[in-house]
Amino acid sequence: MSERKKVKITATGRYVPPKVMTNKDLEKIVDTNDEWIRTRTGIQQRHVAEKGVGSSALGVEAARKALDKAAFDPKDIDFILVATGTPDYYSFPNTASIVQKELGVPPGVPAMDVSAACSGSVYALYTGHQLVASGDYKNVLVIGTEVMTSILNWDDRDTCVLFGDGAGAMLLQPAAEGEGEILGHHLGADGSGGDLLMVPGGGSRNPTSAETLEKKLHGITMQGTQVFKYAVKAMADSTLKVLKKCNLQAEDVKLIIPHQANDRIIEAVSRQLKLPREQFLSNIAKYGNTMAATTLIGLDEVIEQGRVEKGDLVLLVVFGAGFTTGASLIRL
Ligand code: COA
Repeated sequence: MSERKKVKITATGRYVPPKVMTNKDLEKIVDTNDEWIRTRTGIQQRHVAEKGVGSSALGVEAARKALDKAAFDPKDIDFILVATGTPDYYSFPNTASIVQKELGVPPGVPAMDVSAACSGSVYALYTGHQLVASGDYKNVLVIGTEVMTSILNWDDRDTCVLFGDGAGAMLLQPAAEGEGEILGHHLGADGSGGDLLMVPGGGSRNPTSAETLEKKLHGITMQGTQVFKYAVKAMADSTLKVLKKCNLQAEDVKLIIPHQANDRIIEAVSRQLKLPREQFLSNIAKYGNTMAATTLIGLDEVIEQGRVEKGDLVLLVVFGAGFTTGASLIRL
């Protein structure tokens, strides 16, 4: 067996579709208001993909941006991982294979979707890390991409105001001595929370039928309060677990990039961990919850803004349907 390699994030990219839907726009289609959405969630607007645009298209745009930054030819990618809960098609072809073709990655290169809802970004990053660390692959593309607006019930104000569309991407490669490095991860799942956040229709239990359509079972259903409680506990626990695993302290971390589901969840996690609010990224105001894309968009944004730089420790922490949770600690 070959020796385990250190793995770095060589480049990141993000893409959101140009069309913006503000809270005011939502007031016209559902019984809600800007003030409620802002104060209860922190969201001001979200980006919305045009009809017929799938998650692969957003993911390809984000990947191109990441690869351009590294001046890296898509032809040299040797594995594609796509985290998504809104694949182009239920159930196949997988979205990663569509990305392979559209991005110009050569046929033969493996392409796999990762399904862990909002935790998909960290699950995919973990998987990509192992692929490179094993020595089996050298240039792994990790994408988190969602067209959340394709699975919303626009009559349900409890959920339709929360989500947006977008994608983030990163290129993983072996790291030389002294370069940045992915340090470790924590992953978890608790299936007992499955009913609290789900899309009930369209799968093998409730195949699409006139009845599932009539009952609007193809949109997200959620018990918001229970999900909120799980989210705070899960993200605080996951943060502590990955820090312990890597033998580091929260104070060592320059920026925590939490899943963007609700600004009040981020606030509660910072309070629970007794860490300053400024140590946590919040960009939910602009994007809403883009599920598997939030932390990848966030990481690309803070690198671009210079809020974090080479050598800094960054911690991604997520939770999502399943329930699932996870955290990754990275030295940039
Ligand atoms: N606009 C206006 N009023 C709304 C509304 C909306 N979009 N959505 C709910 N309300 C109303 C409710 O009907 C309720 O009214 P009532 O008091 O007359 O019954 C009131 O606002 C409070 O609702 P509640 O559900 O208690 O609000 P909340 O403070 O718990 O916030 C969430 C609701 C969904 C924002 C919050 O629970 C949450 O963020 N949960 C986690 C969601 C999440 O993370 N999901 C994704 C996981 S990846």
